[in-house]
Amino acid sequence: MFGKWFWNIYAICYDSIARLTPYQEMLSDIIAALDLKPGMKIFDAGCGTGNLEQAICMLNIPVDIDAVDFSCAMLKRARKKINVPGINFQKLDLSRLLPYPDSFFDRVVCVNVLYALKNIDIVLIEFRRILKPSGKLIICDPRKGSCFLTIFWSHLASGGGIKALIRLGTIIGSIVLVPELLWLGLLNFINDWRSRRSHKFRTKGEWLNILGRANIVTTYANQHWLIEWESPPDLIVEDWIPENVDYEEWSKYFIEFFKGEPWNEFLMCPRCKREDDFGPAFTWGEKDEITFCPSCKGSLVYFWSPSRLRDYFTRRPDYRGRIVLCGKDVVAWAWGFPLSSTDFYIDTVAILPQFRKKIGIHRFLKIFQEFIRDLNKQGYKRFEVRTHKKARNIRLLLIHLGFQEGEISDEDPERSYWQLQMP
Ligand SMILES: C[S@@+](CC[C@H](N)C(=O)[O-])C[C@H]1O[C@@H](n2cnc3c(N)ncnc32)[C@H](O)[C@@H]1O
Repeated sequence: MFGKWFWNIYAICYDSIARLTPYQEMLSDIIAALDLKPGMKIFDAGCGTGNLEQAICMLNIPVDIDAVDFSCAMLKRARKKINVPGINFQKLDLSRLLPYPDSFFDRVVCVNVLYALKNIDIVLIEFRRILKPSGKLIICDPRKGSCFLTIFWSHLASGGGIKALIRLGTIIGSIVLVPELLWLGLLNFINDWRSRRSHKFRTKGEWLNILGRANIVTTYANQHWLIEWESPPDLIVEDWIPENVDYEEWSKYFIEFFKGEPWNEFLMCPRCKREDDFGPAFTWGEKDEITFCPSCKGSLVYFWSPSRLRDYFTRRPDYRGRIVLCGKDVVAWAWGFPLSSTDFYIDTVAILPQFRKKIGIHRFLKIFQEFIRDLNKQGYKRFEVRTHKKARNIRLLLIHLGFQEGEISDEDPERSYWQLQMP
């Protein structure tokens, strides 16, 4: 969202701005949340001028830190400030895949960066990948509606008044010294910040939707969120074998899943054109049932019972897939059937809505990735999926798996057709 050039300019005055605000208190809150132990490996994503590293150094806890940023100017200042073994500053763009193996870091921390990035879903997938299962992700980011002036005034009001005024003097001094370009850049920043912040600054609810279960409190004069995300319990993966399924149980999962999914509602009887809210063309129920149009008595909605479900799957012994359990609960599944010896059609990819919040979709990515890879090893090269365009999490998952989206020309414009071609 902000180009590298902007951060390079911002680097010139970044530390004076940081000194003017209750920034140090925010750093203490972050350090408390990090709960550092000797020997831990930390990843600081978007380290800026190394303020967090400096604060960690003062604790005298021997930890290894990989602090990265894509701005050379920020890194230059950071390196000048801190030259300690174990702290490694590197140039890295967070919007690319991170050059670390899975489960590498004990802590991943990202302070005041995510609001400025375009696609944080991709970044978070990488954060979680490089984080150990027992690890912690700490994010600090501005709240929706937060205001820089509130941070500033709260600093003056909280006893730091005189100090702040002295620091303000430093800032005013630097105003005279810095080149015009810097202020142009800063004004642009403030402009951009104010006009677009409704998109970049997130509410607590938005964060919970993105991360699943997380502990969220405020910091930085109540203007920022301090988010602590601990890995949720392990997920268990099982192969889907149609004969071994308890269909009574499964129809419950289907009912649960489709409650939260967007459906193509039947708003008009296809026969007599009566307009009404008839619901989806078929859905899951306790028993086989059909609802009829009250005007023409034409059949409308089919309810699939457990026995119909069993029937469906046992007639397709070539079905294969994966189910994901968290404890005893089924939380996600993906399955399908071969169309030919090289083509495989995945007819369902699902993550139960209540677990989507608790666990977040990123955990499922790897599981589905392995499913596709295993099928690929068996000779399938082309994969197809259809989704509803509003199924945001599934879309994200497919994008990450490398699927390309296309329109379904002869069908519902609300649906997409996804295809993945593997070597
Ligand atoms: C507001 S500063 C925060 C710096 C530091 N975390 C702190 O709180 O003091 C945002 C930092 O994110 C970095 N940044 C922004 N986009 C980035 C990207 N795509 N990859 C790496 N760093 C990025 C900027 O260069 C800048 O140093």
